[in-house]
Amino acid sequence: MCGIVGAISNRDVTPILVDGLKRLEYRGYDSAGLAVVDAQQSLDLKRSVGRVANLEKICSDVTGTIGVAHTRWATHGRPAQRNAHPHTSSSQVAVVHNGIIENHQELRASQKAAGFVFSSETDTEVIVHQIDWHMQQGAGLFKAVQKTVGELEGAYGLGVVSKQQPDLLVAARSGSPLLIGLGEGENFIASDMSALIPVAQKYIVLEDGDLAKITSNSVEVFDSNGQAVEREIRTSTLSDDETELGGFAHFMKKEIHEQTRAITETLEGRLGANNVLELPFGENAREIFDNTKELKIVACGTSFYAASVARYWFEEFGIKCDVEIASEYRYRKHVVNPGTLFMTISQSGETLDTMAALEMAKTLGYSNTLCVCNVPESSLVRASDLTIFTHAGREIGVASTKAFTTQLVTLLLIAVCLRRRMQGDGRRIDDMESEIVRELRTLPQQIDNVIELEEQIIAMSKHFGNKEHALFLGRGAHFPIAMEGALKLKEISYIHAEAYAAGELKHGPLALIDEDMPVVAVAPNDELLEKLKSNLEEVRARGGKLFVFADEESGLQSDDETMVLNVAPVHNHIAPILYVVPLQLLAYHVALIKGTDIDKPRNLAKSVTVE
Ligand code: M6R
Repeated sequence: MCGIVGAISNRDVTPILVDGLKRLEYRGYDSAGLAVVDAQQSLDLKRSVGRVANLEKICSDVTGTIGVAHTRWATHGRPAQRNAHPHTSSSQVAVVHNGIIENHQELRASQKAAGFVFSSETDTEVIVHQIDWHMQQGAGLFKAVQKTVGELEGAYGLGVVSKQQPDLLVAARSGSPLLIGLGEGENFIASDMSALIPVAQKYIVLEDGDLAKITSNSVEVFDSNGQAVEREIRTSTLSDDETELGGFAHFMKKEIHEQTRAITETLEGRLGANNVLELPFGENAREIFDNTKELKIVACGTSFYAASVARYWFEEFGIKCDVEIASEYRYRKHVVNPGTLFMTISQSGETLDTMAALEMAKTLGYSNTLCVCNVPESSLVRASDLTIFTHAGREIGVASTKAFTTQLVTLLLIAVCLRRRMQGDGRRIDDMESEIVRELRTLPQQIDNVIELEEQIIAMSKHFGNKEHALFLGRGAHFPIAMEGALKLKEISYIHAEAYAAGELKHGPLALIDEDMPVVAVAPNDELLEKLKSNLEEVRARGGKLFVFADEESGLQSDDETMVLNVAPVHNHIAPILYVVPLQLLAYHVALIKGTDIDKPRNLAKSVTVE
């Protein structure tokens, strides 16, 4: 999704801005641009459609000590040079903006009446004209931005420069993340710290309503009442290692392979000899778990599927659990039972729908809020009573892989802690807990074993290259795993894929079965295996082609109609965490055959910070 970088320094900032944009490419975007105030105090504006590399080619003659830059993911107005940011007004002011301005039509009408000419279809352009208008009325740059944000409805992270005040960078935030990187004799703004890895480690996260006056030597932050405020100075732990391919062709492939290490790190320090430890989750974790009688989990996309798998665990352990998509949750009425813990799950911690759902939930009487998240500096983390980190390490591929499996591991740990309370006083460790802990310890090795099946998965993927549709089937906790497998395939290979609980086939989707509709199934050796086998027979009887990831003791065999890939026996509770891995690899290799942009699939963004 859109990315912001800004810099003010005593050296040329253009290379810093371009490098920062490249580092934000993983978020997904369709156009890029920058504006720099040059030595002659004029605004040099460059914008281009497509990759940052295109922008870089047209910036070789741009120099200056202050500037803002942006990668845009279209919301209002198609991807086009005129809609790319920065937007300028009267060649005086340049603005980069993340978020959506909801009252842009009203502002546009009054600005047109005042004589402003619009050159884009974006909601952002009203911001820059409004700032320009206030400056024309005599306000300095900071005051003009302050007045303008008071007139905006919606969400924004803003970086603003003006050729009239080339020694001042102004930043503002409400609803869209923005931080200030602190350098030596130079300062920066960015939508996330990865943009600033080579230039700043110390940073300040702006809070909603904050505005900042930034020069090369100073940073002043003001809250929404205009009061000067101190915001905590944090230290980033990001490094370049995590953002390099390390010999892999794609970040997605690297991240699939990293799952062994990522899961090991997720478990690190959280397991006792035969139990799950609670203290490593945070000082208030025990009290929050004690208060919890039932759960409401809200998330989007892959994180929603993680929640959907976890629901099977929670309810098996006697904890009522309701799971909902964030964008739906936030627009309906709710009945909240006493003792309900509101849980969000998010890799990025910045997904706007999930964040808005959390803000709404806080007004509804939930006992506490808990976030399962991968990014320590993120908005959801700051807004939640407790965060349990997934420790996946940075995930760059838009298609989530290691973030998903580490979410599942984290959720299983939480489920075990809550189960203890359902069993008694919350302290007693029983055989089932010891068994789950034993199995969790074997999980990294088992993931490695599945990854070793890659050659067979490559052979399987060749059957999908010329297909337009695919069905995914699973039962029980493997139904959401089938959904996640279908999401992976459609996201990166652009093949239309749908998932069904296998028992639902006969209620409609069976009509789709023919030899052009590959059917992928996950078949662990659990209590639903025999039911699943009957569902698979329904497919075979109609000439369907089956591709089954099956427990080697399932009794399922390959033949002309069915390709079975055997997975070593695995404990029921951790089976979903394991069975998603071959589905990730299948999607990856199909996408490779189709030649798509695997790490940055079309139309998608890594961090979805708009509604
Ligand atoms: O950062 P989040 O986990 O909140 O993101 C939610 C979804 O946008 C995300 O999981 C998306 O579905 C992935 N690209 C799927 O691979």
